[in-house]
Amino acid sequence: MRGKFITFEGCEGSGKSTQLKLLSEYLKSVGADFIMTREPGGSGISEDIRKIILNGKNTAMCDECEALLYAAARIQHLRETVAPALAAGKLVVCDRYVYSSLAYQGFARGLGEKFIEEINSVALGNYPPDMTVFLDISPADAFKRKHGADKNDRIEQLGLEFHEKVYKGYKALLAKHPDICAVDCSGTKEETAEKIRNLLKERDIIK
Ligand code: TYD
Repeated sequence: MRGKFITFEGCEGSGKSTQLKLLSEYLKSVGADFIMTREPGGSGISEDIRKIILNGKNTAMCDECEALLYAAARIQHLRETVAPALAAGKLVVCDRYVYSSLAYQGFARGLGEKFIEEINSVALGNYPPDMTVFLDISPADAFKRKHGADKNDRIEQLGLEFHEKVYKGYKALLAKHPDICAVDCSGTKEETAEKIRNLLKERDIIK
């Protein structure tokens, strides 16, 4: 039986990495057959593309190039890593997916939903996630918690105004796509981890 495909979304500093680490520990403790992977990245070629996209020196990169590189990294990652794992019946947990492109490039960069959906049509058509968890915290609160942005990361450097647009983009996506589940993550990391586990149990994704 095909495995389940779960993706995680959120703004910078939403605690996504921490939550994915806690979820991974939980899945190991219950003996789940899973892989944890990320975008952009998750395969050799896609990790190389990631370095180009996020390199703080690449200030000349135009928005369309950025969107296409995310899409290119994605399809390679799907074919090389995600699809084989799903075919083997594994649970695939992925840090970011197409909703990131819609929120960041489509909404915040202003490229529009249509362009992003077009360049991600293979991902959207053939590999729709079974469920998406959105870690809901405003960028202002997230930056406060995180003590500022990473100076070497091209996207994090874009400042609060850009990240507020990303957050608005996610909110618009939430209203439109019922497969996205928002988890309020203003509490402690343990509280959020429990909310996530409960959500995945309710949806029969994990036992
Ligand atoms: P990363 O360091 O993994 O950030 P985070 O921990 O917040 O997930 O870098 C990924 C960056 O790429 C992040 O700023 C979000 C951005 N991104 C997009 O803009 N579009 C996309 O399609 C994806 C997958 C990520």
